[in-house]
Amino acid sequence: MQITRIKAENFRNLESVEIFPDKRLNIITGKNAQGKTNLLEAIWLFTGCRSFRGSKEKDNIKLGCEFSNAEIDVNSQNRVNKFSYKVKKGAIKEKKVKINGVEITKNSQLFERFMCIIFTPEDLELSKGSPDKRRNFLDLGISQIKPKYIGAINRYSKILAQRNSMLKNHYDNSSYDFEIWDTQLCKLGAYISLMRLAYVKRLQIFCEELYKKISGGESLKISLNSCILNNTSSTDEKEIYELYYKKMQEHLEEDKRLGFTTFGIHRDDLITKINGLNSRDFGSQGQNRSIALCMKIAQALIFSKECGETPVVLLDDVFSELDSTRRKFILNIVEDMQIFITGCDANDILKYKSGKIFYVENGSYKALK
Ligand SMILES: Nc1ncnc2c1ncn2[C@@H]1O[C@H](COP(=O)(O)OP(=O)(O)O)[C@@H](O)[C@H]1O
Ligand SMILES: [Mg+2]
Repeated sequence: MQITRIKAENFRNLESVEIFPDKRLNIITGKNAQGKTNLLEAIWLFTGCRSFRGSKEKDNIKLGCEFSNAEIDVNSQNRVNKFSYKVKKGAIKEKKVKINGVEITKNSQLFERFMCIIFTPEDLELSKGSPDKRRNFLDLGISQIKPKYIGAINRYSKILAQRNSMLKNHYDNSSYDFEIWDTQLCKLGAYISLMRLAYVKRLQIFCEELYKKISGGESLKISLNSCILNNTSSTDEKEIYELYYKKMQEHLEEDKRLGFTTFGIHRDDLITKINGLNSRDFGSQGQNRSIALCMKIAQALIFSKECGETPVVLLDDVFSELDSTRRKFILNIVEDMQIFITGCDANDILKYKSGKIFYVENGSYKALK
């Protein structure tokens, strides 16, 4: 999958940009705060996922403007699909997302149509950082290949928040019937656990091989630390649901006392071990960064395999933070994917590969090569 054209109008500081990227390597250079990441954000819109910066959609509209418009043309299996994303300001926010001129109603419809992986400096902390980062990583990876999954995650979060607010506000807990909430939570929890397990198994296979290469022979094992699957070898969804429900009931008194839900998939995590030792406790910063790198690359590879299409790879400001071995490693692995790289020395990369360079200044893009 390759982007053949990008257009951004009043998108953050990009007033009127149109570029025609290289089908392999694109380097975006320029001083700080000129609009490099903004362009990646315009591309990321079309994944249908939340902003990787955690910002809101209305923040994308250029200050003082009434609307923002982003467009990309994507070549996939020798067909060009045209995507557009327009947001209007106003009392009622108006948004129109179209694929080949046809409006779509749900962002998740974009998941299957446009595939993209992003790598930011924050992702380098994926292995060592807090568990919610790893859960998000898993959930995003799974959603991209199974769009239905995101619905389950959203419903789970919503019900969990409601349940927690009941517990926290000390409603008359003794008389309140938790059954309706818990039945739903457990059904979703059982489904999500199994989806995560299946994904982690695939991740493990890719990561082990990648890590062996990047480290010169060390063994990496990745497994799911699951609230429920740690207690059973069953993979039958109904059985897991029943066990899940039983566990929820066992924790109910504690939940009431503490005022939040102590058991559930919202506490799952990944365990990463190098040569048998837990990397979070024993790994060096370099080892943990390599794990993060392998996890993200594995995500792209799983994606490619599942969809028969290579995703577009965005590397935002991450290159300068890596040593030359890891840089080469990335460039080799993602060789057949289209890449956009910001925040790096263009000449350094062009030693390994040919591609286009774009220079950005105050929101204006110029193709240099
Ligand atoms: N909605 C907006 N309207 C106008 N300018 C914006 C908006 N959002 C962000 N910016 C500007 O975009 C610039 C940052 O762009 P960014 O792409 O993050 O920079 P970098 O080139 O360092 O990656 C800042 O100058 C910021 O003020
Ligand atoms: Mg930036």
